[in-house]
Amino acid sequence: MNNGLLLFFGILVAMVSSWFGFVHSPQLQFGKQLPELDESTGASFPVPRSGAANRGRDIYRQNGCASCHTQQVRQSGFSFSVVIEDFGTNTVQLSQLLPSLSSQFTPSSPLPEETPFRLKEGIDLRTAEGIVKSLTEVGAVAMALISPSGADIERGWGIRRTVGRDYLLDSPVMLGNQRIGPDLSNLGNRNPDANWHLVHLFQPRSVVQDSVMPHYGYLFEKREITGAASADALRFNGELVVDDEGRQVIPRTAALDLVAYLLSLRLDEPIFEAPGEKSATVESAEETLVSEQSGATE
Ligand code: HEC
Repeated sequence: MNNGLLLFFGILVAMVSSWFGFVHSPQLQFGKQLPELDESTGASFPVPRSGAANRGRDIYRQNGCASCHTQQVRQSGFSFSVVIEDFGTNTVQLSQLLPSLSSQFTPSSPLPEETPFRLKEGIDLRTAEGIVKSLTEVGAVAMALISPSGADIERGWGIRRTVGRDYLLDSPVMLGNQRIGPDLSNLGNRNPDANWHLVHLFQPRSVVQDSVMPHYGYLFEKREITGAASADALRFNGELVVDDEGRQVIPRTAALDLVAYLLSLRLDEPIFEAPGEKSATVESAEETLVSEQSGATE
């Protein structure tokens, strides 16, 4: 061993530089990230989960759902759109201007009845700013919005790409790396029907033809029907769901918690480092679940 010292320093440099690369620099980038606070409404993003949804996350993890479902949305680029918020009072000049901006209008066509009105989509920033400027000159209120694009976004899997901040409240983070089933980042928005999810977990093929998702019957208790069926028993389209032996099926707490977690997955908020357009707000999915649960136990 003539070069012992050289070997020692060689290893030391390799270790230290990889520590900087893999530990220190991610820590600088993400370590001190905080939820984004919307000062006008006081709401923060990511939205803290309820107790049931937090327990449901563990059920999701235990059942290996992440081996078939991702929770990460990709974006390939973005374009801009122009939205008119208010037509202003100078409608004569505006009606003359609109045909030159969009082929939807002719000099004789009336102004649209509702605002906000989406005038143009899929254009670049400079064109969008030019249009906004000419609209502002005739007294209308308009703005250019960023619209993220990409296959995942077109499938409705989220309004924008996912970034580190989206996972701040998750430990461990279950990004997943295989998409045997769809991405679930925005599931709570896409399908806020808690009952549908319970039926789907019990027997995926009863709601999705030829589904290859496994069924999770052990999250449900099966009980012989004596007299009237239990108020908690699973129903779909008003009909009682029964297992192969004709028994009624009652969701266990684990199933209800898992669904609370699924409904808490909502990628519908643009944030600073990942701008996008807020999607129309769906009635709070967790509220639906709570009212259904309390309705069932009455
Ligand atoms: C073997 C792979 C696999 C596993 C494991 C799996 N899924 Fe699925 N999942 C699928 C497939 C395929 C679909 C699409 C067909 C369907 O909707 O049933 C799907 C669909 C879904 C949907 C509907 C998504 C939508 O956009 O409509 C939800 C919700 C869901 N899975 C939740 C779960 C949960 C929760 C678990 C764990 C308890 C789980 N999945 C485990 C394969 C899987």
